[in-house]
Amino acid sequence: MKSKRHRKSPRNKLGTLLFRPLRFLFGAHVNRQLKINREGSLCLQFVLTATVHHGKSHLAIPESRNGQPCLNPKQKKQPKTQTANPESRNFYHSESLNKKNRTNPNQPTLEKTYMTRHASPNRKDGENNTANQNAPENNEMVVTPWEVKGKVDYERLIREFGTQPLTTQLLERLEKHPDKLHLQLERRIFFSHRDLDTVLDLYDKGVKFVLYTGRGPSGPVHIGHLVPWIFTLHLQQEYDTRLYFQLTDDEKFLVDDEANLGETSKYSYENALDLIALGFKPENTFIIYDTQDIDLLYDITLEVAKRITYSTARSSFGFQDSTNIGWVFWPAIQAAPCFIHKKLTGENVPALIPAAIDQDPYWRVTRDVAQKLGYYKPAQIHNRFLPGLGVGGKMSASMPETCIFTMDPPEVVKKKIWNAFTGGKGTAAEQRKTGADPTVCSIFQYYFYLFEEDNVKLAERERRCRAGELLCGECKKDLTEKLNKFLEQHRERREKAKDVIDQYGIKR
Ligand code: TRP
Repeated sequence: MKSKRHRKSPRNKLGTLLFRPLRFLFGAHVNRQLKINREGSLCLQFVLTATVHHGKSHLAIPESRNGQPCLNPKQKKQPKTQTANPESRNFYHSESLNKKNRTNPNQPTLEKTYMTRHASPNRKDGENNTANQNAPENNEMVVTPWEVKGKVDYERLIREFGTQPLTTQLLERLEKHPDKLHLQLERRIFFSHRDLDTVLDLYDKGVKFVLYTGRGPSGPVHIGHLVPWIFTLHLQQEYDTRLYFQLTDDEKFLVDDEANLGETSKYSYENALDLIALGFKPENTFIIYDTQDIDLLYDITLEVAKRITYSTARSSFGFQDSTNIGWVFWPAIQAAPCFIHKKLTGENVPALIPAAIDQDPYWRVTRDVAQKLGYYKPAQIHNRFLPGLGVGGKMSASMPETCIFTMDPPEVVKKKIWNAFTGGKGTAAEQRKTGADPTVCSIFQYYFYLFEEDNVKLAERERRCRAGELLCGECKKDLTEKLNKFLEQHRERREKAKDVIDQYGIKR
């Protein structure tokens, strides 16, 4: 069913007419596509196809799941905007649009998908504020800080966002014990970065770094949120370094018409418990609750905000005339924790941000201003999204039935897993005969991301699945048990966190 918000605005139509020639001029001669393989190195597309989809890999890898990458060809391009700074060049100016990486001009590009989400921020006409205006009718990719939908093509994000693939060499440099890569590195769940090499070079010369990540407390935490936090904890332990963790109740309030500050602040507290439950220690973990701690951030925020033009913000985030001005200012608040360490300790060190790649636009604008303010540019490592239990897309709280929350009771977990989308066949008999397809299976992804750390066992599970020896019911049952055990322990630690949460606040 087509809802009102799927209709295209006249302005979009006009945009297409005006900018189609531009699009042609800017990308007409390029139709080569570079991709990264599992080793993190660049290769031509046909090489990737051979390696990923038909190669000898024993592990099904997340990006090959369900269907082809496909951006809605009907989507309209937005006008090119002038930006002064190289880093915050949006998709029209992005590093990805250099000649080497430019994509096929006839192919719709991510920026269009990206921008359309903001065709309606805080609309006055009652349309859903969080919906993409040209919401996917198929499995098209939408990746913005506020929305992730469809089949995510990670190589394409690297190209379009202008980040770097995480190479094996860099992964090994990042690990203090390179012979034993963390699961999330080994499986390339972290797959892209900005300036990780610079941070490691500095570290070798004696300049430490701090970690920074965060969460928009729009609701309860699900296990997809835990993925980068688990890796952050690992890095914190390896490098014995501080973590600044920002809970952005203000952001969630501003970007969602329905949200109220009481609710988002309540979820800040609830979400902090989930973070602490993972095992972070108060000595070097500093949680920033935006609305409570804004006084600490405010001077830095102002310095940042003063140096980001409206034009840059608009082109990076897609703001529209109807966007509320709180939202327009807000990115400066997410930038502030990148630099707070110096204010608190006098030490000027870079921040390394482990986070999902949808947050990248924030870092682009932050990196533009960092050096002008006397700081290092913040570096990032980007993780993939844990897929939801349905067909395509990341695990998203807006579709609770496809999403395992940390507070889901065992029966609910069982039911959600039972209803999950798999690569199974219509009948058990058929599946025994022809086998199933783990590459499209949401259940397999959970083993891959979190619940089967043993590579040999994972490969064996994949083999049995393909061979028709392992049926979906059994695989789901195993996962339900593993998940419920994990969640039970998590909740125990979460309960204990209530007694110590005060020790973690940045104002302690
Ligand atoms: N904007 C993020 C969200 O909506 C929250 C956030 C703030 C964050 N600072 C961050 C996420 C740093 C990752 C890294 O979830």
